[in-house]
Amino acid sequence: MQRLHASLQKCFAVFVRDVYSVNWMCRYTSTAADTVERKYDCNTYLNKNGTRGNSTGDKSCKRTPQKQICQVVLQHFDQQYYEELGEAWSTAREALLCPSGWQYSVMMNRFNLSVEMMQSLKCQGYSSLLKDAPGSSHSSLQCFVSKTQSRLPSQQHRPGKLKQYYLLNAASLLPVLALEARDGDKILDLCSAPGGKSIAILQTVTPGILHCNEWDILRWKWLKQTLESFLPTDLYSAVMVSNLDGRHIGESEPGLYDKVLVDAPCSNDRSWLFSSDDVQAGTRIEQRDKLPALQKQLLRSAVEALRPGGTVVYSTCTLSRAENSDVIVSVLSSCDNVELVDLTGQMASMSQHFTFAPGNMLGHLVIPERGKTWGPMYVAKLKKLY
Ligand SMILES: C[S@@+](CC[C@H](N)C(=O)[O-])C[C@H]1O[C@@H](n2cnc3c(N)ncnc32)[C@H](O)[C@@H]1O
Repeated sequence: MQRLHASLQKCFAVFVRDVYSVNWMCRYTSTAADTVERKYDCNTYLNKNGTRGNSTGDKSCKRTPQKQICQVVLQHFDQQYYEELGEAWSTAREALLCPSGWQYSVMMNRFNLSVEMMQSLKCQGYSSLLKDAPGSSHSSLQCFVSKTQSRLPSQQHRPGKLKQYYLLNAASLLPVLALEARDGDKILDLCSAPGGKSIAILQTVTPGILHCNEWDILRWKWLKQTLESFLPTDLYSAVMVSNLDGRHIGESEPGLYDKVLVDAPCSNDRSWLFSSDDVQAGTRIEQRDKLPALQKQLLRSAVEALRPGGTVVYSTCTLSRAENSDVIVSVLSSCDNVELVDLTGQMASMSQHFTFAPGNMLGHLVIPERGKTWGPMYVAKLKKLY
């Protein structure tokens, strides 16, 4: 434990008390599809009249578009995903191309819990995501979902004042639940910004240590602000924030952690479909082939950082096979000290809320569909044997 602390102290300071204005937040471009707070802050999907926009041209998706679908990306996805997923891509395609139908879930902050607000959500037709999940041991994680596309305003960052809730794609909670964190665990969140899953972990347990790492400096600052907005000061000593290349954490911190989450940088289908210009989209598609190599390096680093018997959850928000099951196949075949953990039971218990792609993918892939627009989200879990 001392070694862990000493090493982490070399990393960047914990909770620098900078204040980042909403303007700064709006200038910054998110690449995380599973976080909706910033999009809301920036009104990127708001039309002139304040309603959320539809970008499809699809007659059943009725509102006026502000953001346009990026045809370059759509064609690229059509080619790849019809082949890989068949009908499941038609389902996902329809949901993804209709932002006015997207749903948002509300994760309550247990450190500033408002019973009135939870009651009000229930009155508005929201229901608890985890209430009916058999065996759910995370009673402190309160997340509300609505069948409609209603969305709460996100709360602005106010130094010294804890936020009451975090808006997110409900499928983002699946990797956190798959982690099965316990009080006292040493946990590494290898790719942590903007911090949604770190916050969710801290809703479920009080870790011995939660090390949140993010390589991109602007996103690292955003991560610190998120943590500061959701955690009481007495938890700060259990949370460390670093700004390192996650590919090297395994070699610098071998065998230290009970649990590691690799929520990998990925193609981010939902956001890429609305790339703001063709040049940006073209660059993204060109560089897409490089992502699996990075993802494998991050996952191998995570395995190295685990103690024997520890587990790592790997997740992405893309439907791409190359970034999902192919990454798992590659790590399983190159590391003889890891085995796949079966998540079937756990995922089946959530099937009321999520639609999973059929077939053996070594993990589970949430397919967005109308009325259940959560995902895309791929989740797989590995155990380090020795
Ligand atoms: C999908 S996002 C993580 C979302 C986050 N887990 C959450 O729930 O809010 C992936 C993150 O990985 C970061 N990243 C990219 N390359 C990295 C690396 N080599 N080491 C650590 N983080 C990296 C990206 O900047 C991005 O913030």
